[in-house]
Amino acid sequence: MFSNLKEQPADKILALMQMYKDDPRETKIDLGVGVYKDASGNTPVMRAVKAAERRLVEEQESKAYVGLLGDPAFSDGMIDLILGDAVGRANIAAAATPGGTGAVRQAFEMIRLANPDARVFVSDPTWPNHLSILKYLGMEAVPYRYFDGETRGVNFGGMIEDLGGLRAGDVVLLHGCCHNPTGANLNLTQWQEVIDVLNAKGAIPMIDIAYQGFGDGLQADAAATRLVAGSVPECLIAASCSKNFGVYRERTGLLMAIGQDSGLRAVTQGTLAFLNRQNYSFPPDHGARVVTMILQDEALRADWAAELEDVRNSMLGLRSDLAGELQRLSGSDRFGFLAQHRGMFSRLGAAPELVEKLRVEHGIYMVGDSRLNIAGLNAKTIPILAKAIIDVGI
Ligand code: LMR
Repeated sequence: MFSNLKEQPADKILALMQMYKDDPRETKIDLGVGVYKDASGNTPVMRAVKAAERRLVEEQESKAYVGLLGDPAFSDGMIDLILGDAVGRANIAAAATPGGTGAVRQAFEMIRLANPDARVFVSDPTWPNHLSILKYLGMEAVPYRYFDGETRGVNFGGMIEDLGGLRAGDVVLLHGCCHNPTGANLNLTQWQEVIDVLNAKGAIPMIDIAYQGFGDGLQADAAATRLVAGSVPECLIAASCSKNFGVYRERTGLLMAIGQDSGLRAVTQGTLAFLNRQNYSFPPDHGARVVTMILQDEALRADWAAELEDVRNSMLGLRSDLAGELQRLSGSDRFGFLAQHRGMFSRLGAAPELVEKLRVEHGIYMVGDSRLNIAGLNAKTIPILAKAIIDVGI
């Protein structure tokens, strides 16, 4: 049987992670996988997470199963964090999932169950695993224009034109904030225009929100998701706690299915439970419990939000320092987009050969589409990267 197996395509981001590990150069710089790093290159456990974990060790009396949908308190806390009061709780079905990827996977499966003919429109580019999972599930992905290679902003005209090809029942995958991999985002007026197109076409938005708090702040980063959820008949939201709580390996995420017809909530909720049961039964609990404790405890929540704000501000500082250094070296404003982008990533818009040159000649690792993880930089590496960018001719 095993001899029938074929080699599967490697995930580009994870393959790069391995290449970086294998590179013996001491001067190498990792700007690949989307993991936050502080100025010393560490990915720390956040203070509030440590405190909640300590409390959990003391207080937790049982590791017995919780429920197929996870702890309802986790769903409530996350719904409040992401949606505020944009949608009534009676309209939201939710399930804890193993990370944001688990939520994305369950969302796609739910779409396929509900409407096997649905096509999923995805931004060009999008997180490569979106495409990989869709392909694995045999679902059709339709790219819509998103990144403008000239301005490095959003090609909004192209996006709206491509969404014109939607059919009723199609799904449009949107990044709630901090677009991965480009860092280029819509403003709220543009979001409203997208909503109008979706509603006119009878298409359903699916929002992937994995970086709330990394762009313009916890509230501002949720604004588009709230606007969408409050303006459409139905939508799906896949949320991750990996980045904003720094609980990457704990696999903590939530899938929400929101419908204006609250009569459908029970069957929607039941479907989410069924999908969890089929795929892994009970979702992981540790990260979700830690997140719940933080969200419910005023002091922990304040400390978590403060630390997240420091993380966000440090990334903004790195962005403007890099843009400034590149302006100095190039004598032009052509890298100004780096300070405009938001979130962990920016796409340089460089050819793959130049990205390869950065890796081979300078030991600088970024994803082949020229996505760089801003959080992988520090005061020492910014001048090195800037010089290398100019040297290779980007
Ligand atoms: C990334 O885009 O680098 C992260 O979301 C990590 C991953 O799983 O790909």
